[in-house]
Amino acid sequence: MMGNILDGKQTSLDLQDEIARKVKSITASGGKKPHLAAVLIGNDAASKAYVGHKIKACAKAGFESTIISRDSNISQTELLQIVAELNCDESIDGFIVQLPLPDHLNSDEVLQAVSIEKDVDGFHPESVGRMALGLPGFLPATPAGILTLLKRYRIKTNGMHAVIVGRSDIVGNPIAALLRKNADPGNCTVTQCHSRTINLRDHTLRADILIVAVGKPNFITSDMVKEGAVVIDVGINRIDDPSRKSGARLTGDVDFEHVAPKCSWITPVPGGVGPMTIASLLENTLQASLSNAKS
Ligand code: GUN
Repeated sequence: MMGNILDGKQTSLDLQDEIARKVKSITASGGKKPHLAAVLIGNDAASKAYVGHKIKACAKAGFESTIISRDSNISQTELLQIVAELNCDESIDGFIVQLPLPDHLNSDEVLQAVSIEKDVDGFHPESVGRMALGLPGFLPATPAGILTLLKRYRIKTNGMHAVIVGRSDIVGNPIAALLRKNADPGNCTVTQCHSRTINLRDHTLRADILIVAVGKPNFITSDMVKEGAVVIDVGINRIDDPSRKSGARLTGDVDFEHVAPKCSWITPVPGGVGPMTIASLLENTLQASLSNAKS
C-alpha cells in the first residue's frame, strides 16, 4: 500500500476561501469584518512564525488583525492587564495568547483570564470542560483541524481504533476526547500513550488511526505502524539540513519516508496539520464575530 497524502495545505486554502467568501457577504450587507488579536511574548522564533502565519491568513480571509508584541521580561500583572483590555475591547472578536510563555509567567492564570466568548483557542478551562461535555464552545484549533481533515477526506472513524501518542492540553488530550465522542468524525476506541507508556510499539501497531504529537523528529518508525493505517503527524520539528540554503528544514514526528508506503493515508510535514490549525482558528474567529453581531 502506498500512502495517499492528506493535503492539509490545499484543504486549508479551500477552507480559507470559503471563509473569505462568507466575510465578503457579511461586509457587503453592512456587517463588520471579524477581528482577531494575537498576543506574542518574547522572541521565540517558532512562536513568531506561527503568529505571522495566523496574521497573514487573517488578511487573506478579509479579517482585521492585531498583534500585541511584548518583551519576554513583561510581568504577570502587565500581561493580565493586556488580557483584561482585550476582553473589554468591543472591536476585538477573539484573541489568542501564543504559547509557550516565558518560564516566569503563569500560563494557567493567563488562560483563565481570557473571556470565554473571545477564547478562540479554546484553552480556557471552561472551554475545555464544554468540549469534554459536548456543549457548544470553541474547539482548540489543532484538534479541530484534524477532525476537519478527516471529514473532508471522508476517512471512516466510526468503530476504528485510534491511538494517540502525546498528552498535551493543546493536542493529545483534546483529540482523544473528541475522537471518543459519539459524533462524526468520532466513535473511535481510543488508546492514549505518553512518555511513560511501556512497549509503545505494541500499542501503535494496533492503530487504525495513529495520531502523533510529541515533538520528536522521526519518533514513529515504520515497524511501529500497521499496514493500511491512517497516520496524522502533528509534529513540527526544525532539524539541521546542510543541503538547504537556510541550513535547516521542518520534519514531523513520523519517519515519513518509511512510514508512508505502509499506510492508507498520511499527513506530510509541512503541509499537513499545521495549515489546518490556521483554518480552524479563522473559523472560530468568524464564529465569535457572528455571535457578537447577534448580541
Ligand atoms: N502553541 C502551539 N500551538 C498553539 C496554539 O494553537 N495556540 C497558541 N496560542 N499557542 C500555541
